[in-house]
Amino acid sequence: MAIPAMLRALEGETLSTTPIWFMRQAGRYLPEYRAVREEAGSFLDLCFDQEKASRVTLQPIERYDLDAAILFADILLIPLAMGQKVWFETGEGPRLDPPFTSDLLKSLSTDGLHDALGPICETVSTVRAALPADKALIGFAGAPWTVATYMLAGRGSKDPSALRLFAYKHPDAFDGLIELLVDSTADYLIAQAKAGAQVLQLFDSWAAGLPKSFFENYCAKPVIEIAKRVRAAVDVPIIAFPRGAGPLYNLLAEDPHIAGVSIDTGLPWGFAARELSPHATVQGGLDQLLIVKGGDPMLKAADQLLKTFNGKPYIFNIGHGFVPETPPEHVGELVDFVRRGRP
Ligand code: CP3
Repeated sequence: MAIPAMLRALEGETLSTTPIWFMRQAGRYLPEYRAVREEAGSFLDLCFDQEKASRVTLQPIERYDLDAAILFADILLIPLAMGQKVWFETGEGPRLDPPFTSDLLKSLSTDGLHDALGPICETVSTVRAALPADKALIGFAGAPWTVATYMLAGRGSKDPSALRLFAYKHPDAFDGLIELLVDSTADYLIAQAKAGAQVLQLFDSWAAGLPKSFFENYCAKPVIEIAKRVRAAVDVPIIAFPRGAGPLYNLLAEDPHIAGVSIDTGLPWGFAARELSPHATVQGGLDQLLIVKGGDPMLKAADQLLKTFNGKPYIFNIGHGFVPETPPEHVGELVDFVRRGRP
């Protein structure tokens, strides 16, 4: 069977045609997504409806010549499965209730995790069965720090420093929460791999601006612990995405359990090629807003990005997810450009 290009790149191969996929490639910028989303009712109903979630996972693959599909789900399904109430306010984003306190920690449990997230793993199996053999299926979860920020604040946080202060003031409760998230996330990712996910990505969207020791303890260490447990159970490569970590990206790239690192819009490409490429396959980096603009500025940046990683294992992607105003035809132009091969 043909090994998907995405997996070859994660094994360290430099390919003449760069593998390509996009964060949030299934989402509101696609009219066919909006139609299924409307049918489903709420965003969470869509995540747990195996047939509809499979359909939206496959939509971008049907429209574009991409190398991978990413499971349609959300990083906040873990707190939901552990017993915190989660819902999505239209136009405003996620809400969690009650916000985290040490009392909530006592009420959270991993006991029902497998049952609660069973439908998500069924979506993984359905998509894998429908996906051509040369396309990889990516599973994912949130990294413990990022999921903890939502659990503590009860929403996307406007003031991340309050969360860091909570960790300093209540180290026992905070360490307990991170441990619980390491356990549940490792189990969930192993279940996704067993159901057919061939790559696993850990999203640490709130990793920017942290002191080094805090990043080490609460971003790098938990992600590496999850990677160790997953690698001990299944042979699936792991990509870390510590968004905004700057030079601290090295702590993840250098760990032998991490196969790839996804770089954000702010990390200089030359730094990534020089410092990270010797240790891990680099993915990402293009500003997703350039795809809203399209045309020459988008293609010139893509060309520059490909030149920077010439001769190195690299997976084309953006620095953060597509925004809803992304014109689908610009995505098509970009995919065709990258498909034409290395400069
Ligand atoms: O990339 C993909 O196509 C796969 C699916 C995916 C979603 N969320 C679907 C989604 C993935 C990988 C995620 C990860 C996720 N979810 C992250 C990490 C990546 C990042 O963006 O930083 C975070 C922080 C979340 C939490 C979350 N989910 C927020 C903050 C929001 C609201 C923001 C928004 O864009 O509305 C969501 C909702 C969400 N998750 C949507 C999608 C397609 C939009 C909901 C809708 O269709 O109404």
